[in-house]
Amino acid sequence: MRYLTFALTKGRLAEKTLEMFEKVGISCEEMKDKDSRKLIFVNEDLKLKFFLAKGPDVPTYVEYGAADIGITGKDTILEEGRKLYEVMDLGFGKCKMCVCGPESAREVLNNNQLIRVATKYPNIAKDYFYNRKHQTVEIIKLNGSIELAPIVGLSEVIVDIVETGSTLRENGLKILEEVCPLSARMVVNQVSMKMENERIRKLICDLRKVLQEGK
Ligand code: PRP
Repeated sequence: MRYLTFALTKGRLAEKTLEMFEKVGISCEEMKDKDSRKLIFVNEDLKLKFFLAKGPDVPTYVEYGAADIGITGKDTILEEGRKLYEVMDLGFGKCKMCVCGPESAREVLNNNQLIRVATKYPNIAKDYFYNRKHQTVEIIKLNGSIELAPIVGLSEVIVDIVETGSTLRENGLKILEEVCPLSARMVVNQVSMKMENERIRKLICDLRKVLQEGK
């Protein structure tokens, strides 16, 4: 039997994924060692391999077949636009993509003015403003701490992830529009889905049962 390879998103998403996998009898003891700098882990009995990658790289590994399966956020899947199958919502990592800014930005946003939008997700922002709202905006790509942009005057609004809302609150910003709901998703390489159909379908089926039981 060949190895089935999983690309997991480094950090909390990987931890949650492994918790869920344990419930369907898939474990990887080696991976739990937080001090380890190891990047790839093997479960010899089940013929599985796991590696940790940065979120935006997960769809890349899956599209090229370096991983059969990937677990990452819907935000990353939308932003990267890779060719792959999104097969399952894992139900954790729930948050939403929003247009945020100070209350004062609501008016310029509604008046169809040429505003600046700072974001880590330029493709999602473009799709939202150009294709859904038919509004011309200037999109500025940032790499983190996006909430700074409207505070220091780089942009009128931001497109960013809101989970608890505390980052916004502590910085005097508000949700002005909701773009889409987000959560962790399982993605599968298009060839793997055919070649390893039985194993992948069983995994999806087992995980669905866990989700049902949790409800
Ligand atoms: C994310 C996001 C917000 C924050 C939202 O940032 O970009 O800043 O979390 O969470 P909250 O609604 O619970 O406050 P992250 O911590 O991933 O880091 P980043 O700023 O580097 O993107």
